[in-house]
Amino acid sequence: MLRRLHHEQPASFEFTPANLAWAKGQITKYPEGRQASAIIPLLWRAQEQEGWLSRAAIEHVADMLSMAHIRALEVATFYFMFQLQPVGSVAHIQICGTTSCMICGAEDLIRVCREKIAPNAHQLSADGKFSWEEVECLGACTNAPMAQIGKDYYEDLTAESLSKLLDDMAAGKVPVPGPQNGRYASEPKSGLTSLKEYEKGRAKYNGSVQRAVDIGDTIKRIDGTEVPLLTPWLGKAAKAAPATPAKGKVKEPKPAKGKPADATGVTVQAAQAISKGEPVPSKGKKPRVMKAPRKGGADDLKMIKGVGPKLEEMLNGMGFYHFDQVAAWTEAELAWVDDNIEGFKGRASRDGWIEQAKLLAGGGQTEFSKRVKKGDVY
Ligand code: FES
Repeated sequence: MLRRLHHEQPASFEFTPANLAWAKGQITKYPEGRQASAIIPLLWRAQEQEGWLSRAAIEHVADMLSMAHIRALEVATFYFMFQLQPVGSVAHIQICGTTSCMICGAEDLIRVCREKIAPNAHQLSADGKFSWEEVECLGACTNAPMAQIGKDYYEDLTAESLSKLLDDMAAGKVPVPGPQNGRYASEPKSGLTSLKEYEKGRAKYNGSVQRAVDIGDTIKRIDGTEVPLLTPWLGKAAKAAPATPAKGKVKEPKPAKGKPADATGVTVQAAQAISKGEPVPSKGKKPRVMKAPRKGGADDLKMIKGVGPKLEEMLNGMGFYHFDQVAAWTEAELAWVDDNIEGFKGRASRDGWIEQAKLLAGGGQTEFSKRVKKGDVY
């Protein structure tokens, strides 16, 4: 399939302020010089905001990442998940047309789309509310035929149920995602044959559906203030979130100061600073430093695996000269060091500097320091 930019393009693109802060946070996940690695999340966020990727959006993202426009265009035109033409203002319907779904009636669903939306895929409906396309297997084959609508899956569809879904969405409703034929999840259509004791007292919806209902962003355009910005499974914030809050009442758990709130690993404080163009506050706590080494001279910090001449110089410049200083770092102090060794972020914890320094400070040796002494390490 030929993937080209749409013939009608908006003049410009801007992220919403919250999406911009999110995008800048994403960029900080990558080491200096590797910012282009953020291309897919940023293009995706632009699409989540606008529904599709305009040339202006692609170029805007390329500029943010200091990439040549053509390189961002290559990415956007390569991946089918990126929509290169306007999609329905209410929803874009992605019908799975692969084997299981086709056998179970995907062609009927496509017929509904042709009749109710537009004769051709990627064409807007007359009122501009819907668009559709056929996609490859979406991995919900046991609930075939199915469609992805916005962010969620609608499964066990028939021509009638899809038709009703479209009518409901056109009327401003968001039907509950998941199986549309009464099935709970992907158990046999004839009902459970085992583990029946778990059937009673189970939650109203299966886990995926419950999450979709909780978040409530199935067909919403993302402006950056939604709960999905959080990835609570990465931190304490998860436990603060109510398990099944009432729809529309999902509260954003507040991460503790300095704790990352979302998948970017960027703290709220850091994201706010980034969005204001201010310096990002360091993680953790700055350890006590020394103005100069003790009388006997500085230890050879290069005995610590992961510390080369450049890092040793950097550590000395920060006020760290001795193994016992490193050995005494607390977890918060280690986090601070990890965050402040520019170009080597995360190395102190990754290479276990504290453990190595404890041994070296006590007069012991590590396998690495023995090799350094023997001259095996350059
Ligand atoms: S074949 Fe349709 S989800 Fe796999």
